[in-house]
Parts: sequence; C-alpha cells; structure tokens
Amino acid sequence: MERADALVLFGITGDLAYKMLLPALYRLTADGVLDLPIIGVAKTDLDLDGLRERARKACGDKVDEAAFAKFAGNLRLISGDYKDAATFAAIKKETEGAGFLTHYLAVPPSLFAAVADGLADVGLNRNARLVVEKPFGHDLQSARDLNAELLRNFDEDHLRRVDHFLGKEPIEDLLVFRFANMLLEPIWNRHHVRNVQITMAEDFDVADRGSFYDANGTVRDVVQNHLLQILAILTMDAPPSTDARAFIDEKWRVLRAVRSIGPDDIVRGQYEGYLGTEGVREGSTTETYAALRLFIENWRWAGVPFLIRSGKGLAATDLEVVAELTTPPVTLFDGEIAPNLIRFRIQPDAGVTFDLLAKEPGKNATRGVPISVDFTKTLGPMEAAYQRILTDAVTGDPRRFVRFDLAEESWRIVQPILDLQDAPLPYAKGTWGPEEADRLVEPGGWHPISTTFD
Ligand code: BG6
Repeated sequence: MERADALVLFGITGDLAYKMLLPALYRLTADGVLDLPIIGVAKTDLDLDGLRERARKACGDKVDEAAFAKFAGNLRLISGDYKDAATFAAIKKETEGAGFLTHYLAVPPSLFAAVADGLADVGLNRNARLVVEKPFGHDLQSARDLNAELLRNFDEDHLRRVDHFLGKEPIEDLLVFRFANMLLEPIWNRHHVRNVQITMAEDFDVADRGSFYDANGTVRDVVQNHLLQILAILTMDAPPSTDARAFIDEKWRVLRAVRSIGPDDIVRGQYEGYLGTEGVREGSTTETYAALRLFIENWRWAGVPFLIRSGKGLAATDLEVVAELTTPPVTLFDGEIAPNLIRFRIQPDAGVTFDLLAKEPGKNATRGVPISVDFTKTLGPMEAAYQRILTDAVTGDPRRFVRFDLAEESWRIVQPILDLQDAPLPYAKGTWGPEEADRLVEPGGWHPISTTFD
C-alpha cells in the first residue's frame, strides 16, 4: 500500500469539502496524522487566500491557531474546468516531485470519468490512487458502466469508493463486539435470532437538496450503500485472516447470499409536502421513506427476516439495529415472556443495550419484568468518519471503502425496488412513515428505538 505524498482534492470549494473534508483534514493535521500538500482543484473565483479563509470558516471557532497555520500552509489551489487540459497540466506541474498521489473526487459522479481521463492524459494515473465519493452509479447497469470507465485509467487496487458510514466508529464497533467477545457469536444465527431490524430515521426533510434527492430517493441515497454495508458487517462470517481483503471478501459473500426481494417485501413512502420542495419534479414518485424485508440464504441466516427502514421527516433522528431473539421453549413464569432484544445504537449515541427479563421484586412473584443492561460507550470521544476515510485515502488501506463487487451486489439487491413504478404512500411528517410498513414485520411489529422511550 503506497502512502501518498500529496492529496489532490477535486471540488475543494464545494459543500462536502466545506462541511466535512476541510474540517477533517485540519483535525488530522492538528493531531499530527497528516502533513502533506493538499492541492485543491475547483472552478472558482477564489484565490489561495480566499480558500484559506473559507477553510478557516469551515473549521469553526475551536481551532488551534498554530495547527491551522500549518494546515493552511499545506493548501494549494488550482482553478480550472475539469474538462480543460490546462487544468490537468497545472496539476501535473504543482505535483512534480511527489512520488505517489491520492486524487480525491468530491465532485458530482457525472464528472468522475472526465477527471480520470484528464489525469491519465498527463500521466497522473500512474503512481496514484483515485478516490470517488458517492453515489457510485444510479442502478446496477450505470454502476457497471461507470466502473468500466474508471478502469480505463485506474485498476481496482488503485480505486476507492467512499461510503462514509464505513468510517463511523460505532459501525466498526459492531465487528469488535461480534468477534472480540464470546457472548454474542454463538447465538448470532437462525437458531436464536428471530429477526433483525435496522432503522435509520431522520427527523429533517430534504431541505435544500431537492433536486439531488429527487433524482435519487431513499433507496439510492442510503439503503444501497450505508444500510447494506451495515447489514454485511452485522451478518458476515469471521474472516480467515486480519487483512483487508479477507474482511471485504466475507462482506461480499454474505451480500451475495441475499435473495432477490419481491414487491411484497417493500413499502415506499413520501412525506406530505415533499412535492412543494424546490427542485422536486411535479408529481414526482421519488420515495422519501423505504422499508424492506430481505432474507440471507445461507446456513447461518436462512429464514431470518432482516427489516430495513429509513426515511426523512420521521419522528426522530436515530440509527439503531435491534435483534430480536427467540423466546424460551417452555414458559416457567407468569405473564408474557417478551423476547430479549439486543440493540446496537449507532447514532446519536453509541452503545449496546440488552433488553432482558428479571424477576419481579416481591417474595411470591414469579413474573419476569423488563430490565435493560446498557453499555453506552464510555471510551472517550470518537474520531469523525471523514478523518478515518481521509487517512485511509492517503495511506491506502482499502478496508473502509467499497470494493466494486460489493457495490455491484448491493445494486443487485435493491434493483427490484428501483424498477417499481408505483406511487409511494403518503405519510405525515413527524411520524414513523406509512403504517403499511408494519405488515413487513408481522406479527411483532417494529420495536421502538431507544431515543423514543425514556
Ligand atoms: C448521506 C445522505 O450519504 O448520508 C444523506 O446523502 C444522509 O441524505 C446522510 O442524511 C447521513 O449521514 P450522517 O453521517 O449525517 O448520519
């Protein structure tokens, strides 16, 4: 794995750079993790001082002046069109002498191929890695086409597809929790798990992202990538070794085993008022909510429903996985025996909770009452997802990126939903989406997520 000597950041004046990449790069510089030239590329009227000022604003009030000065000193700027040969000639000149480069494309996917071609025209595809932001493709075929375009100039070993969820520590913690403890793994299978529910709820609406969102919808925006990556990490087998390839192979194997989903396994919704959003097409049938049920046809998981739901304008902002266990085969106690639940809380707080039953206090009582055993993460502040993604972009570790075969399997899984033409079901903002989604989780229903009960 080659470590880059310089980072070429396309789209440095864009939204993602402002909100995520510049603050993360500053932090990494301040922490002594990265110290390398950052060559920003954008079509912009800003000069280098203007860019530094923008970066200063992006980093907020709590910057350490000395660290920021160091970070700002590493910034360079090339203003130019991504389709203009002069832009790439300028990048070549600026990076002369650097042994290995990371090119990071924080630009719309429609420009990925043009940028890769422009780099190759001046030989900057050699001794270099190309990192592309999401979305990678619009469906299975377009993902394959895009990949073929990129492969003209960069081989798979030098390509990295970003899914920033793979940089989130609580998601990586799923792996540690599963494979560093003996508590869970022996029961983590079809014999003991009744169903698994993954909820990614957002209480905000599409706001000023109307035209982006309308061209995509929930399934493309978060299910195909983020939530299926979580599913893979949750359900994969232990890799045979610690190298990145072995880990990615296991994720691929489990995604490969996901059975095609049919129309009965899907509920799509759209919050009321969405159609009035700027950038949204008249009469749009884009979903702002999706719930789906899928099955993994392998020895560990056959027959266990995995329920995934996500939406905008919902009742809470929360990302949580709830596994419902089977109940004891014989009941020895009074009252209903509620199934044990294992909750992996990912956002806004990170932790694991076990919902168990304990004896009701009182000498004669033989009733089980619910108790929660809560392991909220107390290990200190977590690193922002983009700090980890950018570090790996520079060092080359592929573990937290999406290898193409994973992207391809994920598109295969969601393709039947993308093919649906029907209008989504309306739901009111501030609710849990269309009630029809309940039928996917019969008989027990969706478990309330942690933030909704105190
Ligand atoms: C992005 C989606 O990839 O992920 C957004 O485009 C979504 O719609 C966001 O809100 C959620 O990411 P995070 O890190 O803010 O939870």
